[in-house]
Amino acid sequence: MRKYFYIINVFVSILWLSYIYHQQVKIKPRNSSNIANSTITALGDNQTFILAPYYDPRGPTPSIRVLAIIHHSVRELYCWFHCIHSSSVTVRAQIELHRDRFAHPYGTADLLCTEPPNCSYHYISVYRPNATNITPLPLFEVRNRPPHTLSVNFTVCISTMYGDYNNVLQTIQSIEMYKLLGAGRVTLYVNKCHENVDKVLQYYMEEGILEVVPWPIDKFLRTSTDWYYNLKSKNQIGYYGQTATLNDCLYRNMYRSKFVFLNDIDEIILPVKLYDWGSLMENLQKQYPETSVFQTSIHSILKGEGKTTLVTREMAISFHAKNITPHVPKDSLTEDRTLWRFNVSLEQNSNKVIQEVLPIINMSDRV
Ligand SMILES: *[C@@H]1O[C@H](CO)[C@@H](O)[C@H](O)[C@H]1NC(C)=O
Ligand SMILES: *[C@@H]1O[C@H](CO)[C@@H](O)[C@H](O)[C@H]1NC(C)=O
Ligand SMILES: *[C@@H]1O[C@H](CO)[C@@H](O)[C@H](O)[C@H]1NC(C)=O
Ligand SMILES: *[C@@H]1O[C@H](CO)[C@@H](O)[C@H](O)[C@H]1NC(C)=O
Ligand SMILES: *[C@@H]1O[C@H](CO)[C@@H](O)[C@H](O)[C@H]1NC(C)=O
Ligand SMILES: *[C@@H]1O[C@H](CO)[C@@H](O)[C@H](O)[C@H]1NC(C)=O
Ligand SMILES: *[C@@H]1O[C@H](CO)[C@@H](O)[C@H](O)[C@H]1NC(C)=O
Ligand SMILES: *[C@@H]1O[C@H](CO)[C@@H](O)[C@H](O)[C@H]1NC(C)=O
Repeated sequence: MRKYFYIINVFVSILWLSYIYHQQVKIKPRNSSNIANSTITALGDNQTFILAPYYDPRGPTPSIRVLAIIHHSVRELYCWFHCIHSSSVTVRAQIELHRDRFAHPYGTADLLCTEPPNCSYHYISVYRPNATNITPLPLFEVRNRPPHTLSVNFTVCISTMYGDYNNVLQTIQSIEMYKLLGAGRVTLYVNKCHENVDKVLQYYMEEGILEVVPWPIDKFLRTSTDWYYNLKSKNQIGYYGQTATLNDCLYRNMYRSKFVFLNDIDEIILPVKLYDWGSLMENLQKQYPETSVFQTSIHSILKGEGKTTLVTREMAISFHAKNITPHVPKDSLTEDRTLWRFNVSLEQNSNKVIQEVLPIINMSDRV
């Protein structure tokens, strides 16, 4: 019996190896120098910028959801599926420009392309008819296909760190706090930051909790630090393309993480009644089993499958650290000590990291 099992095991391994072998041989595209490797790829028309295609099996037929940033006038785009065994297939994309452009000419869009039958593929290209020809078209590897397996319960998505952000202490405290609350991963989009913050990010990347996604949006479009379009500045996209990063983060983590939190580095979603995110989400899922989403904005959900649920302040609050004096008298403020229950562990953990990064930090700059 044992021998039998052993043979089966070997057989399965061989099958598996031959599968891998085939995969490796066949997925190689004709010219690998066209594979897009950046977070943002321009299609060459100044109107269409591709982030990444994600496999999406929801809906009546499986489709590819290509996350993109497009000019609002773009009406016609095609997905080109590079089939492995047969000739390529083109499919017209259904363009869904997100509503939350706040009057900017460019916005986040989903380009939905139905998967063609009888075509196995790994790469697709996106093209726009009549745009100045760029040959060869970049190839995008379709992500989430096959889906990953869940590796963490909670991921925190932090959109666009930009400018000369230099708050080392806040970066450490926020990440340590997310860890205490149950985060298994932090995905952070970085446009630019101070060299000292960069060193802290390196530390957490080595530790394994942090994934940094480069976000060079300003190479492509004039970005604003405001959310609303300003006629004078003539900026092309709001908030460093924040909604694009939030949506990208959502799909990037779709199969890797059970839950995703979307917030800024100065924000912490803090359970009030319960201790951590694990018990909070278990409780919320029981209470609101029908909540789920497709497209996200900064403070709301644009499109979802199930319901949207607002969580009461008794359950959880968004803790937001701001360096401003409130325009209200001091005695009308209430002290909130929700965070205090973590005071000892937060201080210990943060101090440990500070001790480790201190020698590599440039002290001639204020941190
Ligand atoms: C691959 O494409 C590059 C340009 O992107 C070109 O220079 C090169 O000659 C191509 N290689 C082959 C083998 O076709
Ligand atoms: C992407 O990476 C591959 C291999 O690492 C390289 O051959 C190719 O030139 C890169 N493509 C672009 C568009 O930079
Ligand atoms: C795109 O914009 C850049 C500068 O913003 C300009 O130099 C270039 O000619 C434009 N390309 C097209 C195809 O419009
Ligand atoms: C797909 O392939 C199957 C079998 O090879 C064939 O019967 C079917 O007609 C094909 N479908 C399309 C849409 O080409
Ligand atoms: C694109 O080109 C086709 C002909 O190739 C033409 O009929 C069509 O009007 C063009 N569309 C635009 C938007 O220029
Ligand atoms: C995720 O949470 C479940 C309980 O809900 C726990 O059993 C499991 O170990 C957690 N996984 C990770 C990777 O932390
Ligand atoms: C931590 O918070 C508790 C209240 O939750 C308080 O009694 C204690 O003094 C605090 N410790 C420090 C070091 O701040
Ligand atoms: C430290 O920062 C100062 C001021 O920004 C800069 O002039 C100096 O070159 C930096 N030192 C190192 C070693 O990077």
